[in-house]
Amino acid sequence: ELGGHAHYMLKEIREQPETIHDACRGRFRRAEATAQFGGLNMTPRQLRRVRRIVFAACGTSWHAAMVGEYLIERLAHLPVEVEYASEFRYRNAPLDDRTLVFVLSQSGETADTLGALRESKRQGHPTLAIVNTVGSTIAREATGGIFLHCGPEVGVASTKAFTAQVAVLTLLAIHLGRLRHLSFTDGLAAIEAVEAIPQALGEVLAKIEPAILKAAQRLAQTKSVLYLGRDLHFPVALEGALKLKEISYIHAEGYPTAEMKHGPIALVDRETPCVFVAPRGALHAKTLSNVEEVRARHGTIISVGTEGDESLEAISDIFLPIPDVPEIVQPLLAVVPLQLLAYHVALLRGCDIDKPRNLAKSVTVE
Ligand code: F6R
Repeated sequence: ELGGHAHYMLKEIREQPETIHDACRGRFRRAEATAQFGGLNMTPRQLRRVRRIVFAACGTSWHAAMVGEYLIERLAHLPVEVEYASEFRYRNAPLDDRTLVFVLSQSGETADTLGALRESKRQGHPTLAIVNTVGSTIAREATGGIFLHCGPEVGVASTKAFTAQVAVLTLLAIHLGRLRHLSFTDGLAAIEAVEAIPQALGEVLAKIEPAILKAAQRLAQTKSVLYLGRDLHFPVALEGALKLKEISYIHAEGYPTAEMKHGPIALVDRETPCVFVAPRGALHAKTLSNVEEVRARHGTIISVGTEGDESLEAISDIFLPIPDVPEIVQPLLAVVPLQLLAYHVALLRGCDIDKPRNLAKSVTVE
C-alpha cells in the first residue's frame, strides 16, 4: 500500500501533483474562462446575491480556508471571514440571508466542524461543505458542496488534503469572480495558472529533497522555529509551523512577516531559525528587508523562494526554490517544501511520523 514510500505522509506528499489534478478534474470551463462545480446546489443568481462568506474549519482545513479568504477577496471582491469551528458554533456570530457559510473538513467527521454546520443550518442558512470523504456525516448533512477527490488520507498530518482544498478554493474564487467583476482574460489566466500546477509541482518534488535534507539537519536539534509569510503565504507559514509541531514536537509559530518586529523578533538569536515563505510578489522588497533583520541577529534563515531569485538566495542559509508561477497559485507549490521539511526533521529525530503522539486522524469529540 505504501508503494515503496517509507511512510504514508511521504507517499501523500509525493502524490500531490496527481491529487491536485484530480481535485480540479472536470471543473475547468475554458470556453467561459471559469470553473464549474456540480454539487453547490445554488443557481448563478443565488450565488450573485451573496455579499459575505464565512468559512468554518479546524487545523489544517482552517489554514486552507484562510488561503481561500485571500483568494476570494482578490478575485471576487467578496468579504470573507475564517472562523475556528469550535468558536463559531457557540459564538452567535451574526449571519444574514446574504451570507454564505462553508465548512471545510478532510474527514467530514470533525465534531466541532459538524457542530458549526448544524448551528448554521439550524439558523436557516444554506450551508455548504468542502469535504474529502464521500458519505461522511458532514458530506451528508451539508446542503451542497465540493468534494476534494484526493483519495483517502492516511497520514495523521494532513498534506494532500490541504493542497486539494486550496486548489478547489482557487477554482471557487475564480467562479465567484466571474459571476462578478473578473474579466474573461483574467479568468482565463487564472484557470491556466491552476492547470499548470501539477507539472510545476512535479518539478519541485524531483529536485528539492537534497536541499530539504540540509535544512532538516539545521532544524533537528533546535527548540523553536519561526515561520514567516505574508499575504497568501501567511496561512502557508501557519501550516508549515503546524506540520513541524505535529510530527517533530519542536515548538514552531507562524506569523505574518511584517508583524515580526512587533514582538516575535525578540525570540531570534543564533539558536532560533526562521523559515521565510517568500516567493516573488508585490511585497517582495519589503520581505527581503525583514530577512535582513533576522540575519543581523544571526538567526539561521531557510527560505522558500522563486527559482532564480538571487537576492533572496544570497541572504538565506538554505534556499528552497519553487518555479516562477502567478501569485494566486504560489501557495500550492510553497507549502510542499514545508511539508517535506517537517517530515525529514521528524525522521532525523526518530519520531513516529504516521502516528504522532496525542493526535488522532479525525477528532470526533469536542
Ligand atoms: C493537521 C491535522 C488536523 C486536522 C483537523 C481538521 O495535520 O490533521 O489539524 O486538519 O483536525 O480535520 P478535518 O479536516 O478532517 O476536519
